[in-house]
Amino acid sequence: MEITDNRTLTDFHSHILPGIDDGAKDAEMSEKMLLAEKEQGVGRIVLTPHFYLQDNSVEQFLEKRARSAEKLAPLTEKHGIEVKYGAEVLYTGSLADKELDKLCIGDTRYIMIELPYRQLTDRFISEFRSFAGSLFPDLIPILAHAERYLNFTSARSIYEIMESDILVQLNSGDFRAFSGSSRFMYDLLRKDLAHLLGTDCHNITSRPPNLAAAQKAISKKMSADCFDRLMRNAEKVFAGELL
Ligand SMILES: [Fe+2]
Repeated sequence: MEITDNRTLTDFHSHILPGIDDGAKDAEMSEKMLLAEKEQGVGRIVLTPHFYLQDNSVEQFLEKRARSAEKLAPLTEKHGIEVKYGAEVLYTGSLADKELDKLCIGDTRYIMIELPYRQLTDRFISEFRSFAGSLFPDLIPILAHAERYLNFTSARSIYEIMESDILVQLNSGDFRAFSGSSRFMYDLLRKDLAHLLGTDCHNITSRPPNLAAAQKAISKKMSADCFDRLMRNAEKVFAGELL
């Protein structure tokens, strides 16, 4: 796919690290994913393997991530892709007393948080907002793929979650014309409530790197500047700067 400008793109959500979660199963697949990213103009990637507190302590997760990183590092170097190691942290009430700074993206204070896939009650929303508020301003949560929860809960409840001190990430693949959530996503972009874009790629078939398709869709429906703004945000957050 043709890239219309020379900006190096940033993928803010990925499962490219090999053998750590339901993403790339081995280094061979990781390399194919990196090549697909590169072909689309992506030169920076945030690696966000799933972190489930019920399965791993923070320390166990970091050990596994370090082992996986040893396999990926030669490949990112070979292909000239800059990466930062993070996590996609599933929210539970018990996260509050964990050392969450260790799960931040690289050397930044940003941490990616995923919500459970169920209807979000008023009680949950208020608990989550006080959790997010307790992190801020030391840590800044990024809500992973805000649109994905629409299959389980109302748009109103997601808007209420977004009233926390939180950045919002959207998945590039959900900008497909036939996606039920694209309207919600464009509304967020119009209201300036979405800040970051990621592919959430898991493989090269069913959930591939697809930032270029979103670039095309957003540029057409909104403007090239709107896509560019998402990329500029990503560059700042990647560098640990405040938006
Ligand atoms: Fe993900």
